[in-house]
Amino acid sequence: MSRQYLAHYPLLTLSLRLATIPDMATALKNSQQSGGKRIVLAEPHGFCAGVRRAIEIVERALEIHGAPVYVRKEIVHNEHVVRGFEERGVVFVDSETEVPDGAVCIFSAHGVSPQVRRNAAERHLAVIDATCPLVAKVHQEARRFARDGRTVILIGHADHEEIEGTYGEAPDRTVIVQNVEEAGRLELPPDAPAAYLTQTTLSVDETAEIVSVLRERFPGLSGPGSEDICYASQNRQNAVKAVAGRSELVLVIGSANSSNTIRMVEVARDSGAQARLLPDAAHLDPGWLTGVRTVGVSAGASAPEELVEQVVERLGTLGYTGLDTEVAASETVVFSPPSGLGLPPRGDARTALLDQAGARIEDLLGTERARWAAVDARAAVPIEAIEELVAAGGKRLRPAFCVSGYLAAGGTADQDAVVAAAAGLELLHAFALIHDDILDNSPTRRGAPTVHARHAGIHAARGWAGEPRRYGEGVAILVGDLAFGYANRLAGGLTGAAMEIWTELGTEMLIGQHLDIALAAELVPDPDLSRWVAVSKSGRYTIHRPLALGAAIAGRPDLQAAFEAYGIAAGEAFQLRDDLLDAFGDSAATGKPAGLDVSEHKMTLLLALAAAEDARVARLVEDGRNWDPARLHAALLASGVREEIEQRIDRLVADARTALATAPLADGWRERLGEMAAQVAYRDR
Ligand code: IPE
Ligand code: IPE
Ligand code: MG
Ligand code: MG
Ligand code: MG
Repeated sequence: MSRQYLAHYPLLTLSLRLATIPDMATALKNSQQSGGKRIVLAEPHGFCAGVRRAIEIVERALEIHGAPVYVRKEIVHNEHVVRGFEERGVVFVDSETEVPDGAVCIFSAHGVSPQVRRNAAERHLAVIDATCPLVAKVHQEARRFARDGRTVILIGHADHEEIEGTYGEAPDRTVIVQNVEEAGRLELPPDAPAAYLTQTTLSVDETAEIVSVLRERFPGLSGPGSEDICYASQNRQNAVKAVAGRSELVLVIGSANSSNTIRMVEVARDSGAQARLLPDAAHLDPGWLTGVRTVGVSAGASAPEELVEQVVERLGTLGYTGLDTEVAASETVVFSPPSGLGLPPRGDARTALLDQAGARIEDLLGTERARWAAVDARAAVPIEAIEELVAAGGKRLRPAFCVSGYLAAGGTADQDAVVAAAAGLELLHAFALIHDDILDNSPTRRGAPTVHARHAGIHAARGWAGEPRRYGEGVAILVGDLAFGYANRLAGGLTGAAMEIWTELGTEMLIGQHLDIALAAELVPDPDLSRWVAVSKSGRYTIHRPLALGAAIAGRPDLQAAFEAYGIAAGEAFQLRDDLLDAFGDSAATGKPAGLDVSEHKMTLLLALAAAEDARVARLVEDGRNWDPARLHAALLASGVREEIEQRIDRLVADARTALATAPLADGWRERLGEMAAQVAYRDR
């Protein structure tokens, strides 16, 4: 056994030491006396990333919310894990309908159907979703295939929760196939548009056989983008196969309802060894070991390491004192729990509030997606488009400034309002971006195709009726509108000054956007107007208004003037940097195209100043009919105006700091907001 292995298993090391004490020579002798009986431990075994994540979610939910916390179904299929949590106040229920109205309810790692989400929403449950991300991926594929009009052939066990959940994504379009025999007698026309998906914990070999039967029968069959059987199931099966080749008996630790564990037992048997499922050391029957010199040990993805240690220890007392490992793969996959888990704290107050805002968005969109998917898979497309944009990342600046404004203003009460406002701001931003990308004819955003480009592409690829571009833009207009609606829904509870700020920030952004395209169409290089546009279309809704909104929710009208001065300066700096990044930045970092402003005639301050100061640029700008982006870009570079904009950004950052110099802010916030101004002004993405 290598040192590295020992370092990972301190408890196991201890038990091995006990077994081999007093010294190696004696141990060797004992081992020879006991007929050299050995254990071969399969590597990897035990917890996978999805199980670790699910368990951490329950741990954190207990910590944050306190008992009772409800979990729908067993969080992972292991009786020891479940019992341990029950002792700490977790209540496991079979159905979400048993959970009291408004209580915290965790969905297990195996995933749930949209119907379950709807039921939970109806009961106003505070849902925390512990679905394994790899299961969530299969759900997404099921929705996609169903939306494309395919029949989904779902390979898996009909009575397993994972299959119940995936099946529920498109019950009218899904058929379940459990084995080769069912694949052989599945009734579908051979040319039916069909696609197969699988449960994540199946036997790799058996599934390959089922798929090959299906492919033979349905030649046009599509499959998942990448293998649905998860990395952990594959690795554990490979390792157990290798161990089975060296042992007469293989013990697989885990519970009887754990699908991946049972598959491991089967794989070991198919490889020629005897194999047994072993819930824990107490169930180990020494009678099984008669005539067994080498016993293989592994554990399913939901079995705690402690159980493995206890089994190895027990085997040690039964004379199995040698220990080898059989390493089939090394695993580095880690899945972090969802942000916020619906509530604070952990980390500082700002992070906690931002996490909650993130969770609020996820919840709203998740519930809406499930609701509309019930009508028709196409009805959920706009919501999925918003979810994809939000999930693609972004700096989340508007929620950050909103929450910072609230905390800098000493806010403590009304946290729900600030969380809702922060969440609403990010969805308002999603709306602004989706429409902005139509206005600017941009193909990429956050490193992915823009909504209109993606849907135009789908239209063209499928040969649908009408013009792809009109369709793509039509979809994106609606998706943007929907995001705007959701933003307003989130902000709907704001009152008084906060509601006035909310209304104003949307209006001024749209007017700024209109001026942006008007100046571009009319080719008006006016530096004053360009500055006004930068502040109105971007600086205010990104920095000034979110801060002001936070302060208003905290009940601090006295801070409005200082936040306006700070927000206008930092906001202009933010947009000037955006313009510089467009002209000279790296699109791999920004996730959007470079050079788009110049090709779309945008009268940014950069271009307007260059035209005012450099006759060559002025001539190129005037000559709108022969617009030449490459020459303009070169002329811009040569004009030296880039340096001028950099200096203006420096001055604006200094102005932003000055604006807060005497403002009565909560401790530490003068400095933090000063840093935030610099961060947005000197960012590279
Ligand atoms: C981009 O905003 C649109 C502008 C107002 C310039 P961000 O630069 O904040 O974009 P994300 O949210 O990080 O993607
Ligand atoms: C967009 O400004 C401002 C809004 C989204 C309201 P830009 O057009 O410069 O933003 P990017 O560069 O596309 O992100
Ligand atoms: Mg744009
Ligand atoms: Mg724009
Ligand atoms: Mg831009």
